[in-house]
Amino acid sequence: MKRNVTIKNGELHLGGVAASALAKEYGTPLYVMEEDVIRRNMRAFRDSMKEFYGEGLVCYASKAFCCKEIYRIANSEGLGVDVVSLGELYTAHCVDFPMEKVCFHGNNKSEEELRAALEYGVGRIVADNLPELRQLNEIAGKMGKKAPVLLRIKPGIDAHTHSFIRTGQIDSKFGFALETGEAMAAVKEALSAENILLLGVHCHIGSQIFQVDPFVEAARVMVGFMADVKDQTGHEMSDLNLGGGFGIRYTDEDEPVPFAGYMGPVSQAVKETAAARDLRQPFVLIEPGRSIVGEAGTTLYTIGSVKEIPGIRTYVAVDGGMGDNPRYILYQSKYDMLMACRAEEEPDGAYTVAGKCCESGDLLGENVPLAAPKQGELLAVLATGAYNYSMASRYNRRGVPPVVMTKDGKARLIVRGESLEDLVKNDL
Ligand code: LLP
Repeated sequence: MKRNVTIKNGELHLGGVAASALAKEYGTPLYVMEEDVIRRNMRAFRDSMKEFYGEGLVCYASKAFCCKEIYRIANSEGLGVDVVSLGELYTAHCVDFPMEKVCFHGNNKSEEELRAALEYGVGRIVADNLPELRQLNEIAGKMGKKAPVLLRIKPGIDAHTHSFIRTGQIDSKFGFALETGEAMAAVKEALSAENILLLGVHCHIGSQIFQVDPFVEAARVMVGFMADVKDQTGHEMSDLNLGGGFGIRYTDEDEPVPFAGYMGPVSQAVKETAAARDLRQPFVLIEPGRSIVGEAGTTLYTIGSVKEIPGIRTYVAVDGGMGDNPRYILYQSKYDMLMACRAEEEPDGAYTVAGKCCESGDLLGENVPLAAPKQGELLAVLATGAYNYSMASRYNRRGVPPVVMTKDGKARLIVRGESLEDLVKNDL
């Protein structure tokens, strides 16, 4: 396992706290987030922005992991945030997050969401389609405000192939297409709308991407479009938001590119294209989510039944599953796992790790190498910090587990686990 994990006396430690101590105090399943890892990642992005662009804004994509504490941490590190719903926006508002550093996304924002964005004074609203742009213009007019807008553009790049492809017109529910002229028409409409302030453009080409070229190509296309806009309308937009999508290591098969490995070539493409087209260097924003919180998270489970089906496989059942981590059932995502209290022992075989939901597909992994897992022992699933807690469900009426943050040998609860009372509180 290439991952850096801290093992003391044979036991996994997270932010200096022993896994068994965490399980004892907070129970299992338990999401554990290591604060130092999160802050280190935030700083690395922030610093490389400064290094490669001189200025710019890193907006943490809070869909990866959203709660009050993560917005506090992002704020204290000088980051902005990307929100995609009233719920995320409201959570940020609850901790007085500086709204001018918020980027509000979504392909189908409600009137309530648009109104809230304007009321709170969100810095950038990313308009996805013409009806939304028109609605925003109207609402802003009624509120006596100007809506700061970026337009979501489909740069026509598919990064999820063995290399990557530029397609004519990508099939996506998000944004305005370039090839059809839809994006330019949207720019012109935004420029003529009385209550819209067109700041720039946004794109996001996918997630868990390990190649640099698609990002570089997207940057070229986007800056090229900004130049086309200037040529055709005379309007020079200031903002270029290049989205998130940087891959992380879930298992040894994954080879993430270091931050600077993306930022160097992408910033070069931005600068070169801008210079070639006689455009000022735009103010660049990026929106990493997974790469900030993913590897900071670990989920601890207690093993229940271990069921060997001779000649077929051995099921190791844990006290959580698809409710707290739906990524295997959704995407067959792979995770490294280890026996938390015997973390240095060599695996004795490959196991199927199952959850406890009434559903055969409720697995956390197959062919997982583990060291003789036994009932009552603690299992750690690594790199669960992104899209686990934020995608949790209450299937089978199991409450969402608590989240603790660890740092310098101390743990603190940052999200309470859902109790039985919580589960019935909205029932009438
Ligand atoms: N910006 C926009 C507009 C996005 O749609 C996303 C992710 C991000 C930023 C952050 O991307 P990241 O840096 O985290 O890759 N549930 C899936 C991931 C969905 C990502 C959706 N959009 C998963 O569990 O893999």
